[in-house]
Amino acid sequence: MNKTAVRPLTIDDYDTVLALWQTSEGVGLSSADTRESIAAYLQRNPGQSFVALAGKTLVGAVLSGHDGRRGFIHHLAIHPDYRRQGIGRMLIEHCLAALRDAGIQKCHLFVFGENENAIHFWRDTGWTERIELKMFSQHTENGTRMNAENTEKHDTI
Ligand SMILES: CC(C)(COP(=O)(O)OP(=O)(O)OC[C@H]1O[C@@H](n2cnc3c(N)ncnc32)[C@H](O)[C@@H]1OP(=O)(O)O)[C@@H](O)C(=O)NCCC(=O)NCCS
Repeated sequence: MNKTAVRPLTIDDYDTVLALWQTSEGVGLSSADTRESIAAYLQRNPGQSFVALAGKTLVGAVLSGHDGRRGFIHHLAIHPDYRRQGIGRMLIEHCLAALRDAGIQKCHLFVFGENENAIHFWRDTGWTERIELKMFSQHTENGTRMNAENTEKHDTI
């Protein structure tokens, strides 16, 4: 049993959380993760993203929110020294409870195909792998134009 506490992630956590994400394999950071972007995300999805604390040390973080129809989880990361203690599962339980409270019935997330540890985690915590789906991405500035972007290998989500 771990003695970790969970509380909502606030923008004051940004520097610490960013440092955790930057050193966590399998977390793909992008221009959507600047301080301003995360502040906007938290404002749009209040009380739905969480951090885990061991004493005063931040050891885990996750973003979650919804679009009014479905929930989405991003950037779950646990400090390597604190893994396999149930902290990841605990953070996700908080996200799902917050989404339920907001009336959201289902949640999705993205995992890099080579991230075996995370794939084990999501399978073992009850998530269904949607092998019948493919994901498509486009930069909004491109509209529907066919150009070099269409062959770009997107490595961020
Ligand atoms: C994936 C990650 C978030 C898991 O966090 P965690 O706190 O260690 O996970 P938990 O302790 O809650 O694990 C719950 C269960 O998931 C499974 N699991 C977790 N990590 C696993 C691993 N590396 N290998 C196999 N199974 C794993 C186990 O069944 C585990 O239960 P058990 O320890 O009783 O066997 C963590 O490894 C991490 O931060 N990885 C780097 C960032 C990342 O990949 N994030 C996911 C992005 S989609």
